[in-house]
Amino acid sequence: MSNLFSQLDGIGAKALEQIEGASDLATLELVRVSVLGKKGALSEVLKGLGSASAEDRPKIGAAANDWKRKIEEALEKKKGGLEDQALETRLASERIDISLPSRGLHKGALHPITQTTRRIIQTLGRLGFDIATGPEVETEFLNFEAVNIPKDHPARDMQDTFFMGPGVVLRTHTSAIQMRAMRNQKWPVRILCPGAVYRCDSDATHSPMFHQIEGLWVDKKVSMSDLVGVLEFFAKEMFGSSTKIRLRPSFFPFVEPGAEVDVSWGKDRWLEVLGAGMVHPRLFEMAGYPAGEAQGFAFGMGIERIAMLLHGIDDLRLMYQGDVRFLKQF
Ligand code: DAH
Repeated sequence: MSNLFSQLDGIGAKALEQIEGASDLATLELVRVSVLGKKGALSEVLKGLGSASAEDRPKIGAAANDWKRKIEEALEKKKGGLEDQALETRLASERIDISLPSRGLHKGALHPITQTTRRIIQTLGRLGFDIATGPEVETEFLNFEAVNIPKDHPARDMQDTFFMGPGVVLRTHTSAIQMRAMRNQKWPVRILCPGAVYRCDSDATHSPMFHQIEGLWVDKKVSMSDLVGVLEFFAKEMFGSSTKIRLRPSFFPFVEPGAEVDVSWGKDRWLEVLGAGMVHPRLFEMAGYPAGEAQGFAFGMGIERIAMLLHGIDDLRLMYQGDVRFLKQF
């Protein structure tokens, strides 16, 4: 019988030792099962109770319960400690660094071509220009004949044309919109015609598709000095108040006289930015205006070129590649 007591003491002491030494919750559970489980050490000892004397049995039972309680308490305490420890480790490893800058929102932005188009329209809009548009697939007649470029005229070679079919082209310039506007609008005609144009041409400075904006001002009395005034205003608003302009005589079939227009750039440079001139009488004739009654001027420019000058962009192709590293700078 003293045998059972000492067995109990041995199991209890060993269990307490193992509990104390357990380094994690899984080990602790193994200890619990091996001592208190159905087939655990304690149950095994109590199986020998039958051979003990009637007098000793309750004492052994009480001693066993005593150990059970002690072991349970020790398990509970250790478990609490190990759980706290596990939580500490987790908190330490999952710590959030609240000083890290946040990622920020990705905001979309307008393409530099759209931005520049809008800026040109807003600027000239203050002088009373409205917007007029036309189709990109245009008749050969409106793209050429109607702006005084007859068939077989050498000026057609200046604009390598995409033909869509007999008599149908992709418009090579926004000047193609002029005749539509002159035929459909009441005087004064004061319009800006923005849009995509197409030419069979492709390298670092030429794209088969690019954008132009055309200006047209027709009224009873419109002079070359009105044209110069409008262009001067435009240049100063776009490129800075100290900007000057200079006109060099040039040939465009739809104007007479015609000029290429430069803007001053820095101290001693001039950059060509547009073509302009007084509307050729032939265009008024084709628009069906009574001879000698209308006067007007027109000008046309490449929008990419203006955008490149404004932002110091040196390669036209960047405009069409859709690279966000480029686009997000605007
Ligand atoms: N259409 C011309 C081009 O594409 C640009 C131009 C020049 C337009 C002179 C005009 C102008 O209205 O007067 O190169």
